Amino acid sequence: MKKEKTLVVIKPDGVQRTLIGEIIKRYERSGLKLVGLKMRVVGEDFIRKHYTVDPEWFLKTGKKTIESYAKKGKTPPSEDPLEVSEIVFKNLVKYIASGPVVAMVWQGMHAVGIVRKITGITEPLTSDMGTIRGDLTIDSYEVADVDSRAVRNLVHASGSIEEAEKEIALWFKPEEIINYRLINDEILYDVNLDGILE
Ligand code: CMP
Repeated sequence: MKKEKTLVVIKPDGVQRTLIGEIIKRYERSGLKLVGLKMRVVGEDFIRKHYTVDPEWFLKTGKKTIESYAKKGKTPPSEDPLEVSEIVFKNLVKYIASGPVVAMVWQGMHAVGIVRKITGITEPLTSDMGTIRGDLTIDSYEVADVDSRAVRNLVHASGSIEEAEKEIALWFKPEEIINYRLINDEILYDVNLDGILE
């Protein structure tokens, strides 16, 4: 549990907004440890692999999008969740493939949950202040829908431990994940704290 890992990807808007340092700082200061880091440009095939590590992603995203149209009293582009999510996915590819992204692996106790808390929920308009998406950007589903594009929300963070394992295996070779100690680990994980006083 103390070595739980999660994947974070700074999306092209995060890189273009020159927020790489600010975003890394927020995860780093939590006490989680950065154990993998790379900059890449990814294409459609890779993006599809990334989102289909969760086999339910297309169905869930389609259903969620249809629900959000219904809530606003609007008609979705189709009643079939899979057709709707294909549209969302096409827009997502345009967004994610538009420029370099920065992929990272963060490790530590509850890494998946802690990273999701620091990141905030998907839509910047409704994500809490204090989170990356709540503090550093301004997009909404409503405006993204009008413009037929993906919501620009700066980062991707794995949704569960299982997803994190699959996503990390897709983005990183095992030898690109570095196993190392930080002096900080003592204060976070040492049970007796008996190595501090001389
Ligand atoms: P994320 O959760 O990282 O991965 C899927 C991304 O697709 C999500 O961030 C948003 O950027 C985008 N997205 C998901 N659902 C919608 C939607 N209904 N409309 C626009 N963009 C979406």
